Amino acid sequence: MSEAATGSGHQPVLEAEVLAGLQAGEPGEYLDATFGGGGHTRAILRAHPYNRVLGLDRDPAAADRAARLEREEPGRFRFRAMNFGEMDVLGEAPRFDGILFDLGVSSYQLDEGERGFSFREDAPVDMRMDPSTGRSGAEFLEEAEREELVRAVRDLGEEPFWRRVVDALLGARGTGQLGRTGTLAELVAGAIPAAARRRLRIHPATRTFQGIRLAVNGELEALERALPTSFGLLKEGGRLAVISFHSLEDRRVKRFFREKAGRPVSAEDSRPQDERVRVADLPGRQPVRPGSAEEERNPRSRSARLRVLVRREEGLS
Ligand SMILES: C[S@@+](CC[C@H](N)C(=O)[O-])C[C@H]1O[C@@H](n2cnc3c(N)ncnc32)[C@H](O)[C@@H]1O
Repeated sequence: MSEAATGSGHQPVLEAEVLAGLQAGEPGEYLDATFGGGGHTRAILRAHPYNRVLGLDRDPAAADRAARLEREEPGRFRFRAMNFGEMDVLGEAPRFDGILFDLGVSSYQLDEGERGFSFREDAPVDMRMDPSTGRSGAEFLEEAEREELVRAVRDLGEEPFWRRVVDALLGARGTGQLGRTGTLAELVAGAIPAAARRRLRIHPATRTFQGIRLAVNGELEALERALPTSFGLLKEGGRLAVISFHSLEDRRVKRFFREKAGRPVSAEDSRPQDERVRVADLPGRQPVRPGSAEEERNPRSRSARLRVLVRREEGLS
């Protein structure tokens, strides 16, 4: 998650590492699939006077910020309000030298209490990045099948006490408690045993809120669709950089990158080498993580992992 309020002087996550990963110091066409506050986009535009960026975001509030940048940088920056999961509408022709995904929610979204992403302020449980489509968090909690709640809390939220939390959510249906962030956070905290709650260094509702947000926005599904599409939009030698904040996202990115690099995608992948096709290179074996100075400056950067993939030139074996 980016401390992305560049307008107020905050630095985007892993800024220098992203610029290096994309080789943004070389003039090129870039796609920022998660414009947010525009921190990374601005850094790419600064990295070379001939760089051009197309920005995407599904959040209408990001579109307003982008409109300002379009006025400041005519001809160098354009924006499209859309879900990157539907990126195939951009066509199929490879045209980008670099593509960036900085996944998750922006600090703007967390700070706008009324959006319901955070329990720091009491607000309706909305949590949609694009509030004009889909079910709000509250509707999801009231209507979803038990299995969907289990997936949100156990798998996406990685909440160890998921069974208790899911039972509490189901038990609170129809009472109004699922409709406000304050009562929802209290309900979830109360479902977690007191001894475990005392040991936690995060608010006991943090994981469940994250899981609900990921489910409501279909975040993993959008990423799954966008990875192959974005790879297809890269020119030969083009670079794809992804910053993830959740182990499930990072696992998908790692798997996709290894597949493209002709490497085994898991311990169980026993395909012989000649059955794997290598269409990309992995410049680094390990994901890039923030240094201690960045973690201290921006605690939310702590879980960030940056992976980079480079599309090979055709004909190389
Ligand atoms: C972590 S922030 C990006 C911050 C940005 N890199 C910066 O420096 O300001 C993630 C942004 O991606 C957007 N986003 C998340 N999933 C999306 C999707 N599937 N399609 C389009 N935008 C998405 C969110 O609305 C949010 O604004």
